[in-house]
Amino acid sequence: MTNVTDQDRVLIFDTTLRDGEQSPGATMTHNEKLEIAELLDEMGVDIIEAGFPIASEGDFKAVSEIAERSKNSRICGLARANFADIDRCWEAVKHARQNRIHTFIGTSPLHRAIPNLTMDEMADKIHETVSHARNLCENVQWSPMDATRTEWDYLCRVIEIAIKAGATTINIPDTVGYTAPVESADLIKRLIETVPGADEVIFATHCHNDLGMATANSLAAVAGGARQIECTINGLGERAGNTALEEVVMALRTRNDIMPWHTGIDTTKIMHISRRVATVSGFNVQFNKAIVGKNAFAHESGIHQDGMLKNRENFEIMRPEDIGLSGTSLPLGKHSGRAALRDKLETLGFDVGDNQLKDIFVRFKDLADRKKEVFDDDLIALMTMDEHDDYLQLVSMKVTCGTGGQAESTVELEMDGKDIIATEHGDGPVDATFKAIRAIYPNKAHLQLYQVHAVTEGTDAQATVSVRLEEDGMIATGQSANTDTVVASAKAYIHALNRLIMRREKAGPGADAREISYKDLT
Ligand code: KIV
Ligand code: ZN
Repeated sequence: MTNVTDQDRVLIFDTTLRDGEQSPGATMTHNEKLEIAELLDEMGVDIIEAGFPIASEGDFKAVSEIAERSKNSRICGLARANFADIDRCWEAVKHARQNRIHTFIGTSPLHRAIPNLTMDEMADKIHETVSHARNLCENVQWSPMDATRTEWDYLCRVIEIAIKAGATTINIPDTVGYTAPVESADLIKRLIETVPGADEVIFATHCHNDLGMATANSLAAVAGGARQIECTINGLGERAGNTALEEVVMALRTRNDIMPWHTGIDTTKIMHISRRVATVSGFNVQFNKAIVGKNAFAHESGIHQDGMLKNRENFEIMRPEDIGLSGTSLPLGKHSGRAALRDKLETLGFDVGDNQLKDIFVRFKDLADRKKEVFDDDLIALMTMDEHDDYLQLVSMKVTCGTGGQAESTVELEMDGKDIIATEHGDGPVDATFKAIRAIYPNKAHLQLYQVHAVTEGTDAQATVSVRLEEDGMIATGQSANTDTVVASAKAYIHALNRLIMRREKAGPGADAREISYKDLT
């Protein structure tokens, strides 16, 4: 863990598994959360906010297990300003080598009106709850939610109370993404200068991206004296998302000349975790997204390519290798052997055991038979869009398309050990296929999202398809990759259905996955 006495060190607090996961549709399974937490720990994240333990049994279990498995990162859980939340949070994080309770309350006039507390009543509540948290845990973070719209005098008053009650980190959230960089720097600077005891704690910045200023606001806050940035991988988060971890980390590294602060992040792990978060959350990264977008290091235009060949610094301020993108991308083909495959997977960040390699090799050969060259992105899709051992399995399908848009699809699924076939017509091959699947497995899940991306170029490129379904408040995302877009679509739809089935079984009859909705927070 960090030497926090180092004045130039900025702590990275990742909230992908809490603020990121509360983004509608980004729900992750238990195992996915464990995997992401492990990757965050390995990449050097200082504090992982692993969830909101009182929200549901599932959140509690995930935070507890992440705490038990943690290696170097401090594990934090979120709690509202009441004893029940704080006790539950402590139960979940207490087994971590290093833990933290993060408790918060909305302090702006709009947020104070929700619990209908006077300023004095809220101040007393802050004192009580932070003291309670501090009696349980020596590391307590307190947040005045909607701080950037809270009256200055009141903000100073409640921060002083929280520090006196034992908070060790004071987080300043820009909950609705309202602030601007000059204001962000100034706010932190003035708070540190004004609030008694401010020099005893670490100030953190927590920005949302509603006006596209989250990264700029976070960096400005650091210039103002904040030494912890709260962020998520790929900027995942409700509405326009949170500050993107990869952006603040790479900005500090690349422009260290004017921002002389550093983090403990191993930046070569960025690309791998970005891809995993995109896959498990079902939120694809936009092509032109800074740092991790597919085009972030692509130089298509003739002028750019010429310039790059003469001197890469002409157009590149960072090297692809710095974020874990392999510089060369020599494709594999059907004659490539197991050793070449393993070697390539290792350079892409996948550590595979012998048995897993055997299985992947079979799927790689199958792909190489259909596709002349297998590129890095094809392999990543192969690794991340796993074959699933589930209740519903695609056995075969046949689609006929007419020129008028009408299509017929015959789908054979294995369901509960039995093969069932259905034929349906639809408006195009995907519509007909989804109808045939619904004929075999009737359900009232509502299709919220259907997205297709080509993994590489060419007409033999693999397509990755994401499908998001919603049923009775439960959301599940499915994904698949195939050189045939309709097959990938069918598999992604079936994958999402399998996840809904699994979630329904876990939650029990009529249950929602989350007992307390995050909507209750704001
Ligand atoms: O945006 C916000 O205010 C939050 C708090 C819970 C810290 O996420
Ligand atoms: Zn937030």
